[in-house]
Amino acid sequence: MGRLVVVSNRVPAPRDRHQPAGGLAVALRDALSEGQCLWFGWSGQQISEHEQEDRDVSIDHVENVTYATIDLTHAEFDGFYQKYSNAILWPLCHYRAGLMEYNRKDREVYLSVNELFAQKLLPLLKPDDLIWIHDYHLFPLGQALRDLGVTSPIGFFLHIPFPPWSLMKALPGGARLMQNMQAYDVIGLQTEDDARNMNDGFSICGVKARAQVFPIGIDPESFAEQAKAGENVAEVERLRESLAGKPLIIGVDRLDYSKGLPERLKGYETFLQRYPEHRGKVVYLQIAPVSRGDVEEYRLLKQGLDEAVGRINGSYGDFDWTPVRYITHPVPRHLLAAFYRLANVALVTPLRDGMNLVAKEYVAAQNKDDPGVLILSHFAGAAPEMEDALLVNPHDADEIAEALHKALAMPQAERRSRWALLQPDVWRVTAGSWARDFISTLAKVKRG
Ligand code: G6P
Repeated sequence: MGRLVVVSNRVPAPRDRHQPAGGLAVALRDALSEGQCLWFGWSGQQISEHEQEDRDVSIDHVENVTYATIDLTHAEFDGFYQKYSNAILWPLCHYRAGLMEYNRKDREVYLSVNELFAQKLLPLLKPDDLIWIHDYHLFPLGQALRDLGVTSPIGFFLHIPFPPWSLMKALPGGARLMQNMQAYDVIGLQTEDDARNMNDGFSICGVKARAQVFPIGIDPESFAEQAKAGENVAEVERLRESLAGKPLIIGVDRLDYSKGLPERLKGYETFLQRYPEHRGKVVYLQIAPVSRGDVEEYRLLKQGLDEAVGRINGSYGDFDWTPVRYITHPVPRHLLAAFYRLANVALVTPLRDGMNLVAKEYVAAQNKDDPGVLILSHFAGAAPEMEDALLVNPHDADEIAEALHKALAMPQAERRSRWALLQPDVWRVTAGSWARDFISTLAKVKRG
């Protein structure tokens, strides 16, 4: 099998290359654990327009992986990343066409950055490479590489949902985007719904390409170990002591409107209203690291959340009780793992999510003798695999409130039996098996 070349917009920052954080990076690390690999993408750095003439690819070798990254100019960062990727494609793919801020100029920048990626990657490629491109930032990259004469197998995996064509067609140039997908030999999506939507789109646009399902997972063994090893870490002790025996409800999400955070807070507020016996007796810790903070919609979301948390704490809190503990900076992964183990309930209630690995991590982190309860949205990609969680409609505050009440009162025997039904799939479909399945499918491709 040829060398694996992975391309994604985000590449782990140099300091994280031994232990990357974040779903995509962690999952890919497993894929890159064997043989010589190349990982190409954006450096995370911006340069001024006059520096672009002599911008080079920066190369760094860590173990078997060569990291090759390029900087983006301020205008490219804005048009390609902030606008077209994150203020057009992201809302649209998450079924939020109304949030789309379309501008033809941004589309041109998006296409030109994809061409730039292709030009900078081309000299690094070898004839027997397998090329694997990731996520919505790079839909047209396969075609851009083909236009430069690349004949190697090229696969594409979309980490986020793909909406029905009736929504997707709101994107000017959407049909063109679909046509360009013909450059890919294998196209992977997270769920059956996503693959069906994309294939319907292909057939409506007259495109000869097929999307297949490759659900992504985590590395459950190592996550479970981290969760266990963290039990006696000082920060975890501090959290445990601060609870003073009260049950812990935890939420961990990038601060993103797809995660349903305002709706979740409304659900928690309804829970405190409807079940006053829990007031002063539970702790809800919401960790929501700021993400894409310069995109207007994310700024507004943060403002709204800050206000909602303030309002709930002001109305329901007391001199010795804060109903919501709210953190908008990231928490290291090893602590998160231990926090999950400590938490009695996890609230994972996205309005739409590609997969949602927090749900799987929460299950992996539990103590099998006394596991916590997962409350999961029907609209997470993980929901079809995790039907033994308490599934909720995140738009229904009462349903969230009832699920919280039920979870906190759930007898140990039921918690154990639900966990025992959730656990096998988390161990079966892992980051490693996902990558192996995709790569072996791609390796079988014979280009005519
Ligand atoms: C999602 C996307 C990834 C992205 C990540 C973090 O998981 O699928 O492609 O890297 O969010 O977002 P950011 O904009 O910080 O890269």
